Amino acid sequence: MQVSEKITDIREIRSKLKEPVGFVPTMGYLHEGHLSLVRQAREENESVIVSIFVNPAQFGPREDFRNYPRDTERDLAMLEPLTDVVFIPSGEEIYPEGYDTWILPGDITERLEGAARPGHFRGVATVVIKLFNIVQPNRAYFGQKDAQQLAVIEKLVADLNMNLEIVACPILREPDGLAMSSRNTLLSSEQRQAATVLYRSLERARELWTRGENNAGKIRLEMTELIEREPSADISYISIAHPGTLKEMLHRVKSPALVSLAVKFGRTRLIDNTILE
Ligand code: PAJ
Repeated sequence: MQVSEKITDIREIRSKLKEPVGFVPTMGYLHEGHLSLVRQAREENESVIVSIFVNPAQFGPREDFRNYPRDTERDLAMLEPLTDVVFIPSGEEIYPEGYDTWILPGDITERLEGAARPGHFRGVATVVIKLFNIVQPNRAYFGQKDAQQLAVIEKLVADLNMNLEIVACPILREPDGLAMSSRNTLLSSEQRQAATVLYRSLERARELWTRGENNAGKIRLEMTELIEREPSADISYISIAHPGTLKEMLHRVKSPALVSLAVKFGRTRLIDNTILE
């Protein structure tokens, strides 16, 4: 496994790799969810590149950039058996002094995470395009866990005619249903216990839908009531929307529907989702 912080090294190494090249961008502090993307990339490509970069541009001024968990040594040990190349740039390497070009996704970022975190997807889109330009992958792997991020990247790649395939990968969960996330380690044990309500509320939505309920308001209300039974849970949003456009389904739920939510436990904000079809 070759590891480098430098764009010039990565370009050089990339030019000698066997194609197709699969790429998994991450912010590190890896868990099985990330590794499932790397494993899928390993199975489907001749070469695998992973990046680890906690991208300051996608964190708001009051968000957890400084506290975002980091452990490079552990990450590299986890990647060693699965990965050919790890790109682990410094902030300076990606945003040198005077850096001044930004990618601005449109309407699709006005809802959900985009509405709750202004500027977040500008930061995500910019770094992902830069990473694509540096790594030049044939395929890039993203988790369904971040459903809006996936939709934004798919739109970006289509709108800008970028020559690579975006592969969507399923959400990996803990045995009690909590979606794996680097942020889970920031929860106290009580909050960790309470956080299972995210998955339970998504399962409740699925149960209602399977029974024939298609009133969006009713499903949202039942999810809200279930989550509000956890006193430490502070709901940011519960949404039922089209998975591609993220337009909210105000009355009737039509297949496919993305049910997604963001809930805060203390200072830690968790997201999760499921697709009804
Ligand atoms: P990060 O949060 O580190 O996630 C990296 C990738 O892992 C994303 O595609 C995310 O959807 C996926 N992932 C996270 N948890 C998962 C889970 N439980 N199951 C399956 N996949 C999971 O997302 C980012 O980093 C950044 O925004 C990035 C794209 C790297 C740009 O900075």
